[in-house]
Amino acid sequence: MACTVFTIANQKGGVGKTTTAINLAAALAEQKIHTLVVDLDPQANATSALGVEKQEGKSLYGPLRGEGSAFEMLTPTEWPHLALIPSEVDLAAIEIELAQQENYLMRLRSVLEPLRNSGGYRAIIIDCPPALGMLSMNSLAAADHLLIALQCEYMALEGLGQILKVVERLKNAGVNPTLDVGGIVMTMFDSRINLAKQVVEEVRQHLPEKIFATLIPRTVRLSEAPSFGKPILAYDPSGPGATAYRALAKEVIARFGLKENGVA
Ligand SMILES: Nc1ncnc2c1ncn2[C@@H]1O[C@H](COP(=O)(O)OP(=O)(O)O)[C@@H](O)[C@H]1O
Ligand SMILES: [Mg+2]
Repeated sequence: MACTVFTIANQKGGVGKTTTAINLAAALAEQKIHTLVVDLDPQANATSALGVEKQEGKSLYGPLRGEGSAFEMLTPTEWPHLALIPSEVDLAAIEIELAQQENYLMRLRSVLEPLRNSGGYRAIIIDCPPALGMLSMNSLAAADHLLIALQCEYMALEGLGQILKVVERLKNAGVNPTLDVGGIVMTMFDSRINLAKQVVEEVRQHLPEKIFATLIPRTVRLSEAPSFGKPILAYDPSGPGATAYRALAKEVIARFGLKENGVA
């Protein structure tokens, strides 16, 4: 089985990265696509949002420093076809430690390689911390496609420009020549707010082939679900949040051929 690696990265926090990572993953899993979420944020929001307890020694901290393998960190979730590599606060130290290692940008790629080739997963979704530090850079080096979560608000386009520049630099430096900006997910969309509609329109004009048609609505249910340790599909299965993430998953499946088993 081919495996496609996505990273959800950008420099801003609070824009819906984690919400998108876990709910998109859950919606892919619902479609029987074997999906692995890699929580790369020391804050471990994706871990707790999937109902998994933080546990010392259960994260990519060890493997990234050359101790142990990613396989040992695999953790099941309550949902079929959905697995997790959790995070823990120790992972924060990697930002400094990696900088002293050789090939420091390629560490995550090597750590994930055996998982990727294991045939166990069709999709890997990496959730990144809200900064373009060592962990996010490693995820960009390891991924096939970058998915950008963009909040429908003032200055959204400026933030978009910054991350796109980083992608170009990484490609030009040969770190990941085939890294692709796979898509832009517009999050926390509120149709009653004119600015939100304007932002979507602008992104559509600038990057028509990148923006997903599905807009993720702002709903209280999406913000409540993590405290119950559940994806929205389990917490409010027929609400607008679940409907949107299911629609996004369909687009992702079609765009990246996730139901085909050919070369990703
Ligand atoms: N569509 C949405 N509607 C309402 N609240 C949302 C939505 N998406 C995210 N949130 C909430 O906004 C906050 C930031 O989202 P999060 O996904 O954690 O962002 P990031 O990972 O980029 O920091 C969280 O409290 C989350 O529950
Ligand atoms: Mg987050």
